[in-house]
Formats: sequence, C-alpha cells, structure tokens
Amino acid sequence: MFAPDTLKNRVAFITGGAGDIGFEIAQTYGRLGARVVIASRNQTRLEEALSTLQQQGIEAAAIATDVRDADQVKRAIDQTVGRFGALDILVNNAAGNFHCPTAGLTPNGWKTVIDIDLNGTFYGCLAAYEHLKRSAHGGSIISIITMLGLTGWPGAAHAAAAKAGILSLSRTLAVEWGGDGIRVNTISPGPIGDTEGAKRMYLDTGRGDLERRKTALNRFGAKADVAHAAVYLASDMAGYVTGDNLVVDGGRWLKYVAA
Ligand code: COA
Repeated sequence: MFAPDTLKNRVAFITGGAGDIGFEIAQTYGRLGARVVIASRNQTRLEEALSTLQQQGIEAAAIATDVRDADQVKRAIDQTVGRFGALDILVNNAAGNFHCPTAGLTPNGWKTVIDIDLNGTFYGCLAAYEHLKRSAHGGSIISIITMLGLTGWPGAAHAAAAKAGILSLSRTLAVEWGGDGIRVNTISPGPIGDTEGAKRMYLDTGRGDLERRKTALNRFGAKADVAHAAVYLASDMAGYVTGDNLVVDGGRWLKYVAA
C-alpha cells in the first residue's frame, strides 16, 4: 500500500476523469493527498463523479471538456492552475473506441477516434507543458494506451493507430522535456473488467471468455490495478523513470491463444 501522503500537495488533471479508469485514478490520487481536476464531456456524469470525490473528502473540481478541441483543453488546464495554483500531473486517459472491421470503417469514424485519443493527448501535453515545467515536484505526464497499439488490433485499427501514436509522442516528449524536469510515461492496461471499453470490445462482441484466456493470469484486471500503476509513475518513487511503458495486462501481450 502507498503511504497516505504519497501525492500530497500535487495537483492532477485527468481527462476522461468522470468514468471508469479515469475516475478510479482520480479517487486513488485524491486519497493519497492530491487535489484532482476531472475533465469529461458529459456534464451530468462529471457532477456525479465530483460529488463522489467530495464526499470522500477529496479536494476536487470538474471541468466539462471535449479533448478534441485544443482551445477547450487549454482553457481547462489554465483554469486548473487558476484554481489550485499549479499543475504537477497530467493524465491523458480520455478515449473513444468501437469495434468495427477496417473495411467498414468510415473516414469520419477513423478521424473521430484519432481526434479523441491521439490529438486529445497532444493538446493536453501542449497545454500542460509550461505549467508542468514550473511544478515544484517535477511534472509528470501519464497516458493510458494499450499493447494492442504495438501488435495491431483487428477490429479497432483506429484506436490501435492512435495508441501507437501516443506511445511515440510520449517517448519523443520524454527526451524533449526531460531537461525541464518533466517525466513522460504510458501505461498499457489489458482487459479491465467493469469498464465501458471491456464491455464494448469484448463482452458485447461475445469475446469475453477468449479475452480472459488470452491473459497469462487467466483473469480480467481491476481498475485499481491501473490506478496503482498511475500512482507509482506520478510519485517520487518513479523519479528516474521516463519514456517507459508500464504494462498492466496480466501477461496478455506475451501469450498466444488461437481461438
Ligand atoms: N461502428 C462503426 N462506425 C461507428 C460506430 C460503430 N460502432 N460508432 C461510431 N461510428 C462512426 C459514426 O458512424 C461516425 O462516422 P460517419 O459520420 O462516417 O457515419 C463517426 O464514427 C463518429 O460517430 P459519432 O457517433 O458522431 O461520434 P461521437 O463524437 O458522438 O462519439 C465515439 C464518439 C464514436 C467514439 C463514441 O463511441 C463515444 O463517445 N465514445 C466514448 C466512450 C468510449 O468509447 N469508451 C471506450 C473507451 S475504450
């Protein structure tokens, strides 16, 4: 378990922070002393998530943001600094995805996912840069991707290409911004139960059992598994870790299962 002050005095901005993995990260960061700002598109969902955070005594704010709009992202990050005085951690977690064999994917379907995942991550990094440079703890950027970005992802070419792009962007920024004291890392979750992503990609498509067997540990992961990795990377414990991709997938990417 992490010490309760692991992220004390840190301010974190989390895209997609009202749902699933993003919300789990927000709660976990908050419980470990961080002030958290959650950004998502859906105002109702944001308000519910904010009130849950506040009920736990977490200092938090919520800002409605569509990460496809660079101006909105910049405004939300500037507001975060206006409200809490700093930005120390950026978590690029917002993602869109749907199962669609590539031959049936429209240009706009492709563009929509690239805009949310890859472009949204770039807009976040760009808007956060000057603030992270001034972080008293050293800035930290963490982006949520998947190893399927490296292997290819039949039925989700758009998301796979976007995630591969985020990995490349992160490694570039790790070098470009290392001198500014900013660490840039990614996390690659495997199938995480109780998430919209797992529902859309595996359960709704009848591939839940196959997906479970693909993991070395023979089970889906939990949102907390990813949140704990995100705590480690944001904390001083990972002070010399940058340009890394922390795989939290139960060994899925190493295991071959035909059907
Ligand atoms: N299969 C094929 N194409 C699809 C699709 C599906 N299941 N869902 C959306 N599309 C296409 C649409 O047809 C449209 O393309 P077109 O104009 O050529 O017809 C394009 O994608 C945009 O769809 P739209 O519904 O207008 O986009 P949106 O901005 O309202 O929603 C999505 C974005 C599509 C990513 C939506 O699924 C979403 O909001 N997702 C957020 C949550 C999520 O994906 N979570 C999982 C994360 S792993």
